[in-house]
Amino acid sequence: MSGLHAVQTGSGRLAGKVAIVTGAASGFGLACTKKFVEEGAKVVAADMNAEGLQKAFSSNSQYDQHVHTLTANVTVQGDWEKMVDAAVSKFGGLDILVNNAGTSYKNKPTLEVTEAEFDKVMSVNVKSIFLSVPAAIPAMKQRGGGSIINIASIGAMRPRPGLVWYNASKAAVANATKGLAAEFGKDQIRVNALCPLLSGTGLFEQFVGVPYNEENMKKFLFNVPLGRLTDPGDVANMCAFLGSDEGKFITGVNLEVDGGRAVGA
Ligand SMILES: NC(=O)c1ccc[n+]([C@@H]2O[C@H](COP(=O)([O-])OP(=O)(O)OC[C@H]3O[C@@H](n4cnc5c(N)ncnc54)[C@H](O)[C@@H]3O)[C@@H](O)[C@H]2O)c1
Ligand SMILES: *[C@@H]1O[C@H](CO)[C@@H](O)[C@H](O)[C@H]1NC(C)=O
Ligand SMILES: *[C@@H]1O[C@H](CO)[C@@H](O)[C@H](O)[C@H]1NC(C)=O
Ligand SMILES: *[C@@H]1O[C@H](CO)[C@@H](O)[C@H](O)[C@H]1NC(C)=O
Repeated sequence: MSGLHAVQTGSGRLAGKVAIVTGAASGFGLACTKKFVEEGAKVVAADMNAEGLQKAFSSNSQYDQHVHTLTANVTVQGDWEKMVDAAVSKFGGLDILVNNAGTSYKNKPTLEVTEAEFDKVMSVNVKSIFLSVPAAIPAMKQRGGGSIINIASIGAMRPRPGLVWYNASKAAVANATKGLAAEFGKDQIRVNALCPLLSGTGLFEQFVGVPYNEENMKKFLFNVPLGRLTDPGDVANMCAFLGSDEGKFITGVNLEVDGGRAVGA
């Protein structure tokens, strides 16, 4: 795998930094965790899917010294204490938090969305960030600053029929990102959000109603200027930039990672 060199030498753009990544067992969170390790960070990789975490990290000794896996549910306050405690006790502090864990209900007419589906989407996508703030901010203050990266969605910017409450949950994330950036700038804590386009991850079928494969994927390319969907690596790269000191003057930004999709009609 690429990046072995950075791991072995402990160099890299995130050398000396400690991160928490939620939803780390799959998709964007997995790519982000791998990228962070390549760039020299230590990572608490959290997910409610214990088996997925095991599969992703435990079989590869490359991660032994760099990744601490933790089964955690981002909607549970006590699990946030566990995540931050792990960052501090295993790796000495907390510099970067990637609020990536997210969920959706299946794309369908809005009149068919149930109260339970609404509650789940708001809880996993929005309440998680509410809970993360009091857990992470004190630890970041101890380090003299930090970087919080929330994974929103291009749907936050460009609502369309069908996923109204998913997109509304991401709009809440995008808005809270700006408010948090304004409030915690004085502590040198930066808060930004990424707004990715559709990607072939675990959520693909929920979003578009058909399984991920080459043929189905191609149906969603015609209105993307760069002509492809989001690769998890695209998100991971932006997380590394915003988590590193290269991003030290960037806060309160909702960054489209969408190949130009939001530009067009
Ligand atoms: N895939 C896309 O098309 C797309 C586009 C824009 C934004 N996003 C957002 O990106 C983020 C990552 O999604 P993904 O596409 O990688 O999906 P994914 O399903 O591949 O991964 C999500 C991970 O989050 C974990 N998770 C879900 N609920 C959790 C909870 N309560 N506590 C802890 N972990 C939990 C899952 O177990 C899974 O491992 C989400 O916030 C999603 O809304 C995805
Ligand atoms: C996560 O926590 C919520 C309560 O906030 C609960 O309803 C849900 O079942 C939990 N999920 C898992 C997989 O533990
Ligand atoms: C949510 O956003 C996505 C991406 O723009 C879009 O495809 C989907 O239909 C949207 N749904 C709603 C209701 O906003
Ligand atoms: C989000 O909040 C800001 C204030 O922080 C407000 O000015 C803005 O209109 C809000 N935007 C949306 C889309 O809700």
